Amino acid sequence: PMTIAYDLKASVRTIPDYPKPGILFRDITTLLGDARSFRCAIDELVQPWAGSKIDKVAGIEARGFIIGGAIAHQVSSGFVPIRKKGKLPHTTVSMSYALEYGSDIIEMHVDAIKPGERVILVDDLIATGGTAEGAIKLLRQTGAEIVAACFIIDLPELGGAAKIRDMGVPVRALMEFE
Ligand code: PRP
Ligand code: HPA
Repeated sequence: PMTIAYDLKASVRTIPDYPKPGILFRDITTLLGDARSFRCAIDELVQPWAGSKIDKVAGIEARGFIIGGAIAHQVSSGFVPIRKKGKLPHTTVSMSYALEYGSDIIEMHVDAIKPGERVILVDDLIATGGTAEGAIKLLRQTGAEIVAACFIIDLPELGGAAKIRDMGVPVRALMEFE
């Protein structure tokens, strides 16, 4: 629970039955499209690291690129893309991660992060935490020090944030939905 000066939660749009019946899809494009909401979200997310040194922000494809790029600029760090398999041109390290049904593979360039670099992991939303768990395992392979994992939205009933905290990574999220 945290207090935000501005009603950021109201800028997230909910789409019923997307991508399938019974799912309430939390759509952040309305937050991104509103200048005040976008700035407020980025400012709130980075607030704990004001004045501290962050070497890299790692953003997860696709919406994590948008949030992560803005955060990297705000904290004056580099940006590292974590992508779905087959998209990166140079030598990669890869990690399998759990989906609701089955699994997929995420990749990162092998030389993107040096051992000991301080990294913030960023995505738009955490649900089951499968994607973030895979990204943390990938980052740890490179010797990164993962300072935190940041999300605009947490769906706490799905247990993802608790799972990531159990891996020893602090989780920051700006709002929760059921
Ligand atoms: C969504 C979201 C996270 C992930 C969260 O991405 O942006 O990356 O799911 O789910 P989890 O915590 O259960 O792993 P999606 O799979 O829709 O990919 P996209 O951003 O490329 O559309
Ligand atoms: N919105 C965006 N991504 C998601 C969601 C959602 O509601 N649930 C799982 N991934």
